[in-house]
Amino acid sequence: QADNRVRIVEVGPRDGLQNEKKTISLATKMELIERLARTGLTAIEAGSFVSPKWVPQMDSSSEILEQILQKPPSSPHPVTYSFLAPNTKGLDSATAILSAHPDSFATATEAARAASTSQAKPEIELAVFAAATESFSQRNLNCDMATALSRFRDVITAAKQALPSLRIRAYISVVLGCPFEGPDVDPHRVAEMATDLLEMGADEIALGDTTGMGTVPRTAQLLRCMSAAGIRNEDVALHLHDTYGQALVNTAVALEHGIRTFDAAVGGLGGCPYSPGATGNVATENMVYFLESLGMDTGVDLDAVADIGAWITGEIGKANDSAVGKAVLGA
Ligand code: HMG
Ligand code: MG
Repeated sequence: QADNRVRIVEVGPRDGLQNEKKTISLATKMELIERLARTGLTAIEAGSFVSPKWVPQMDSSSEILEQILQKPPSSPHPVTYSFLAPNTKGLDSATAILSAHPDSFATATEAARAASTSQAKPEIELAVFAAATESFSQRNLNCDMATALSRFRDVITAAKQALPSLRIRAYISVVLGCPFEGPDVDPHRVAEMATDLLEMGADEIALGDTTGMGTVPRTAQLLRCMSAAGIRNEDVALHLHDTYGQALVNTAVALEHGIRTFDAAVGGLGGCPYSPGATGNVATENMVYFLESLGMDTGVDLDAVADIGAWITGEIGKANDSAVGKAVLGA
């Protein structure tokens, strides 16, 4: 893989929509996923197997996974579709569907082999989400950090047993600031958690700046701590919310450090129900424009994502939060 290749993980259909109060139809969610798959994106977070009592908008995730398996969206490259599954209940819901369609998704190696075939089967990934502070763990996971980690050990072990080829992503939230404990989150603690999660079998750590409080010095310090703990850059993704408008400058710091996977949401959609005041993920349009301006190769069609950002924000009655998207469209 060339060093200028960057992987963007589109989280709009999950993080982008999970916080919307008005029910968004399954058809609209599928249209969003299908349109995104055609832009050249190779990773799309499509849903979440969590409690519908807390996050009702994600209740249609079973149907979304079913539809992706039954009629994979057409795409220029194989796409990895990711779903949150933070506990045994969520994992069981996901694996029940996957086990019913054993030939409809690719293993990691098959996907890599078929890297240039548009007919390739979708790859499925599940994700757990830990938190770097006790207060956030209690709010988001209803348990303390140690309990959350031991639950994830069970979830990851069971997932790998049920479907050995399944990729597992592990988020760590509030790594650069907590809505309840402030900006000074211990980076060494984050690196320790990341080490634990990788050791449990996670394939990737997604560092979540849930509140968007991250700054250049603290982002650099966190990544130095991760490397000092022996964590490889290729196992790390950055998941930056853009509440303070710092996401792209922190992306530059991470690129310089050697990170090559970045999450983003089309139209700047997003927010966490447990992070009051936090706004959306960094917009995919802004991320693509920024990375390409540095000579990086995202493989993503900027005009196409700009169109999707304008369409989906209109569809759910929100302002388009992507400066680049609006500029590209002359809006
Ligand atoms: P729990 O330990 O079962 O406890 O789940 P609970 O009291 O919260 O459970 C409430 C009800 O939900 C129970 O049903 C459970 O059975 C049910 P009741 O007995 O009341 O009828 N339930 C479920 N139903 C379907 N699927 C499930 C499931 N789990 C429980 N998987 C848990 C604890 C944390 C799983 C639960 O509270 C939950 O799902 N909470 C929602 C958490 C969430 O979705 N947060 C947002 C996503 S994370 C995020 O946005 C951050 C991220 O973007 C990174 C970043 O920005 O930093 C990833
Ligand atoms: Mg998030």
